[in-house]
Amino acid sequence: MLDLKSKVALVTGASRGIGKSIATVLANAGAHVVCVSRNESDVQAVADSLPSASAAACDVSSSEEFTNLINLVVKEHGQIDILVNNAGITRDGLIMRMKDDDWNMVLDINLKGAFNGIKAVTRTMMKQKSGRIINISSVVGLTGNAGQANYAASKAGLIGLTKSTAKELSSRGITVNCIAPGYIATDMTAELSDAVKEDLKNQIPLGWIGNPEDIAHMALFLASDKAGYITGQTIAVDGGIVMT
Ligand SMILES: NC(=O)c1ccc[n+]([C@@H]2O[C@H](COP(=O)([O-])OP(=O)(O)OC[C@H]3O[C@@H](n4cnc5c(N)ncnc54)[C@H](OP(=O)(O)O)[C@@H]3O)[C@@H](O)[C@H]2O)c1
Repeated sequence: MLDLKSKVALVTGASRGIGKSIATVLANAGAHVVCVSRNESDVQAVADSLPSASAAACDVSSSEEFTNLINLVVKEHGQIDILVNNAGITRDGLIMRMKDDDWNMVLDINLKGAFNGIKAVTRTMMKQKSGRIINISSVVGLTGNAGQANYAASKAGLIGLTKSTAKELSSRGITVNCIAPGYIATDMTAELSDAVKEDLKNQIPLGWIGNPEDIAHMALFLASDKAGYITGQTIAVDGGIVMT
């Protein structure tokens, strides 16, 4: 059994979907989980359902908001052990029609948001000589996808950010890894038509669309002491879509 007793975790995008599931699995393993999203009432409801959790409204793309939040968590708990950068959005469109706003917003939340979080936890984790940083990328960051240039660039960027920070922080006992989910049943994928979902299923060797818990269990493993020899990696949890 993976045990996170006495650990403090912060999960972004925890109000629904994959982030909610990660927050739940980490809390059930014994961590105190700070659940973060922009919508305070949604994230408060998630925190209220967990054994030990608190909620905070924060836009991760704002370095000021995210840094202030992490400083507050460290002041209150005296530590931060696990950071899961999961918050993410899509603003899909073909490159020739993609608006600057759609490019900027996706990069600001998906990639700069993770940078903001990593930068803000680093000093404390370095002092602790321990820490786990988990970035939620996507198989699309590995393969690219027509109509998702902004999203794929942000998710590929997370992989480079992960490798670089893993190299910088490994001597201080901090691991940094990525999870690259495939197609997971959440609000983000709910808008796909049945025909598209059927087509996707045919591309997945295991033959089904994943559940948020499939990602959450990998996050739990990477957050645990058992994953102490893994850093700088991108682990696809995707039913076999990407095999390297
Ligand atoms: N679902 C999939 O198939 C899939 C596949 C590969 C990768 N992923 C990645 O997995 C992560 C979670 O996806 P999901 O499917 O669970 O998405 P989702 O259901 O749309 O949930 C996204 C979460 O992120 C939060 N969020 C969005 N912008 C934010 C911001 N600026 N600051 C703070 N929180 C913000 C949302 O809450 P608020 O709107 O209240 O802020 C929500 O809690 C994303 O990074 C996504 O790219 C998903």
